[in-house]
Amino acid sequence: MSELKRVAKTLVGYIKRPDLYPELGRKIIKNIFNRKSAFRGKTRTTEWAQSLAVNQETAVEQLFGIKFETFQNLFSEELHDASKREKECPIKMGGAGALELIYYACEFTNAESVVETGVAYGWSSLAALLSLQKRNGTLYSSDMPYLSQDGDRYVGIVVPDQLNKHWKLFRHADKESLPKIFGEIDQADVIHYDSDKSYEGRTWAYGELYQHLRKGGVFISDDIGDNAAFQDFCTRNTISPTVVEFEGKYVGVFVKN
Ligand SMILES: C[S@@+](CC[C@H](N)C(=O)[O-])C[C@H]1O[C@@H](n2cnc3c(N)ncnc32)[C@H](O)[C@@H]1O
Repeated sequence: MSELKRVAKTLVGYIKRPDLYPELGRKIIKNIFNRKSAFRGKTRTTEWAQSLAVNQETAVEQLFGIKFETFQNLFSEELHDASKREKECPIKMGGAGALELIYYACEFTNAESVVETGVAYGWSSLAALLSLQKRNGTLYSSDMPYLSQDGDRYVGIVVPDQLNKHWKLFRHADKESLPKIFGEIDQADVIHYDSDKSYEGRTWAYGELYQHLRKGGVFISDDIGDNAAFQDFCTRNTISPTVVEFEGKYVGVFVKN
């Protein structure tokens, strides 16, 4: 699809969804006045992340004291079915992250409430739900649909039907979804951030999410090397995070004191 066609389809997608007009307004303002926000502080943050990075296995064992097993070993059947559903999906969305980290964070906290931003195919949702189902817990997710691809109906496609009773999906931008989610629950056991990657988007959402993370809960953010928002957030709040290197990217994680 050409860039012009993609932009036109996205705009039409927004016009059909009045509930997304606030996000459209924010996007227009960002594209006019704040185009460099996506990469602010990237060089210093990449150096910082590199200097701290460990692999997922080490992070899980050090932070949670749990012996690491791959998702493939733990849930081979569920992974096989999920991959099949992803392959059959006609549209292309963001791929899976560090699934074991999310799963073990839920196990470590005995999670009953998890909040995530960014669903796409639903890989991170699947990881959280496979743990939450053991305690009859609930996953609260926020996701903006892929408007240029008319992808709303495919969001979360890899999650099997039997897990849906544990899942509440809020189909708006985080700025609208998160207040709705925290109108339903006050505290979460685990937070997973994987949506708006701009410096401002992260800074706003990290603050909201952290406030609603219980003490002893786990905070995970994907792609923290994109810009310095995660590093700066940790500095401001005197948090010493663990940085996980995963497929050439960095994931930030900490347990709230
Ligand atoms: C990388 S994907 C998420 C991948 C998912 N966590 C997984 O592991 O499969 C990022 C998602 O965030 C959504 N997104 C981007 N900006 C957003 C915003 N401001 N509010 C809510 N969702 C947003 C995108 O539409 C996309 O579905």
